[in-house]
Amino acid sequence: MALCSWCKKTDAAEPGKKKKKGSAGTWRVYSLKELQSATNSFNYDNKLGEGGFGSVYWGQLWDGSQIAVKRLKVWSNKAEGEFSVEIEILGRVRHKNLLSLRGYCSEGQERLIVYDYMPNLSLLSHLHGQHAAECLLDWPRRMSIAIGAAEGTAYLHHQATPHIIHRDIKASNVLLDSEFEARVADFGFAKLIPDGATHVTTKVKGTLGYLAPEYAMFGKASESCDVYSFGILLLEIASGKKPLEKLSSAIKRTITEWALPLARAGKFKEIADPKLNGNFAEDELKRLILVGLVCAQNRPEKRLTMLEVAELLKGEATEKLLNLEKDELFRPEDISNYICEEKSAKKEVTEIEEADTVTETAANAALVDIQENTAT
Ligand SMILES: Nc1ncnc2c1ncn2[C@@H]1O[C@H](COP(=O)(O)OP(=O)(O)OP(=O)(O)O)[C@@H](O)[C@H]1O
Ligand SMILES: [Mg+2]
Repeated sequence: MALCSWCKKTDAAEPGKKKKKGSAGTWRVYSLKELQSATNSFNYDNKLGEGGFGSVYWGQLWDGSQIAVKRLKVWSNKAEGEFSVEIEILGRVRHKNLLSLRGYCSEGQERLIVYDYMPNLSLLSHLHGQHAAECLLDWPRRMSIAIGAAEGTAYLHHQATPHIIHRDIKASNVLLDSEFEARVADFGFAKLIPDGATHVTTKVKGTLGYLAPEYAMFGKASESCDVYSFGILLLEIASGKKPLEKLSSAIKRTITEWALPLARAGKFKEIADPKLNGNFAEDELKRLILVGLVCAQNRPEKRLTMLEVAELLKGEATEKLLNLEKDELFRPEDISNYICEEKSAKKEVTEIEEADTVTETAANAALVDIQENTAT
């Protein structure tokens, strides 16, 4: 990683200057000059990754603290909207399992968001990416990541005011701090839910494989869509598999289609990530998988709340867990129905776009059309 000129202190870098106070924490405005200096002019060597919003760069400030700077890719009114949404929301929330906003920069055409740098990068990089071969995610770490991410998301749903739907829960949006504790990131797609409203109907944003069927098809965003995505994430943590697996050029299998029959047959150990080499607590593995499958089912009314998810994962709801095991979802006669429904819902999405990320594209226009057609 390139050395940054962090010792060049600029005016805007003075501590305390331009500090803004959200309802639950402080953040400040950075100058472009300061962020250029911190990231060696957004040098390619500093680049941590790239997402739908733009590129993310590692940087170091004049005081030595490490930051991650997300630089907006293309200037547009729509991007401006997402920028202000993310700033608005992140300024409000503070929780040990959420990635806090340090500040932002808005100068000329440049829009940048500054976060704490997470030294262990994303869960995605450890499950399927550049760190996968190092096998750093042992079972206790996986459990604590699952619980931490559940608590962060439960905070968004149940404690933040107004309540917040994340809308893009996935492995790349779960970052890992120096202790491998989870920090849920990226509220750019989130929407503030007015008090009393049960859902907002909006354009579909999110990532294939994690989208709840009712959200993918009708753009109906609610907390339970996040719960669905979270269920997929839990299955991914337990198994090390991707949400959608390509079996051949024409056939894709979802992680639920693969895991449910195994869970139904009580073959939980076969679901466990082979990289764990059998080193896991069997009762915890079973808990993670059962909760994951109950969350990632088609019928939103049958999913859990994030508070229940956190409680169950922590092993604080033994009776509830026993009831989950007896749920019709895990009875043999219901599996075919479940998979059929899953398939038809997923098929719609897969046919619309093959790419991994669904952003504001023709696919969304199509999805919104579906929503409009259904309404008429
Ligand atoms: N605060 C951070 N600390 C360390 N690495 C980060 C940080 N924020 C982002 N990254 C890295 O940058 C990559 C790109 O992040 P980004 O959020 O732009 O894209 P994404 O999560 O893949 O997709 P999306 O745009 O849908 O969120 C992440 O996968 C992660 O590895
Ligand atoms: Mg992200």
